[in-house]
Amino acid sequence: MQTIKNSLGQSHQYIKTFVKEGDTVVDATCGNGNDTIFLAQLVGKAGKVFAFDIQDRALTKTNKKLHDLKIENRVSLIKDGHENMDFHVDKNIKAVMFNLGYLPGGNHNISTKADTTICALKKAMDLLVTGGIITLVIYYGKDSGFDEKEKILTFLECINQKKFIVMKTDFINQSNCPPILVCIEKLRNTLEI
Ligand SMILES: C[S@@+](CC[C@H](N)C(=O)[O-])C[C@H]1O[C@@H](n2cnc3c(N)ncnc32)[C@H](O)[C@@H]1O
Repeated sequence: MQTIKNSLGQSHQYIKTFVKEGDTVVDATCGNGNDTIFLAQLVGKAGKVFAFDIQDRALTKTNKKLHDLKIENRVSLIKDGHENMDFHVDKNIKAVMFNLGYLPGGNHNISTKADTTICALKKAMDLLVTGGIITLVIYYGKDSGFDEKEKILTFLECINQKKFIVMKTDFINQSNCPPILVCIEKLRNTLEI
């Protein structure tokens, strides 16, 4: 029994403290739909979730889960890369979740990549309301994710501290490259990036 949650669990805890009923939020990597459902339940009937994935398999699976829970009306499932999120989403986004890597149970070669993830992050930072949050769960290990992790962390270290708080948590005594959590909060005195 552990009280300190893993990176994914901690991302949910942070999102819960920021997101209220009626908010508009983004799931940048909908995958099997677990984060999309979590967000849809948080924003409630009056809220809106935009969920992105590049794989039909992910969107179909997510759509079925949403339908079974009768909460599909508050979610827009978008088959496009998150790097194009500004074409689909207006400003006033309260939270954006990135759960990086490949679809569990799917093709490991279809995975998030450093360049597109960083492009999406920049757009998410722009679309976010002041006081909003972006969470990233970064998976790496075995033969994948190392390049993406290094490039993302390098990008994050250079974000202007007057405009955003960037926090990274790491499990430093665990083997097998446990996922890293990053939270980015847009500060309330920010007018523009
Ligand atoms: C680790 S899974 C996400 C898990 C998901 N959040 C869940 O709750 O089940 C990562 C997903 O990112 C998707 N993906 C990869 N590149 C993408 C991109 N450029 N834009 C959007 N999704 C992408 C993959 O297809 C995969 O389904």
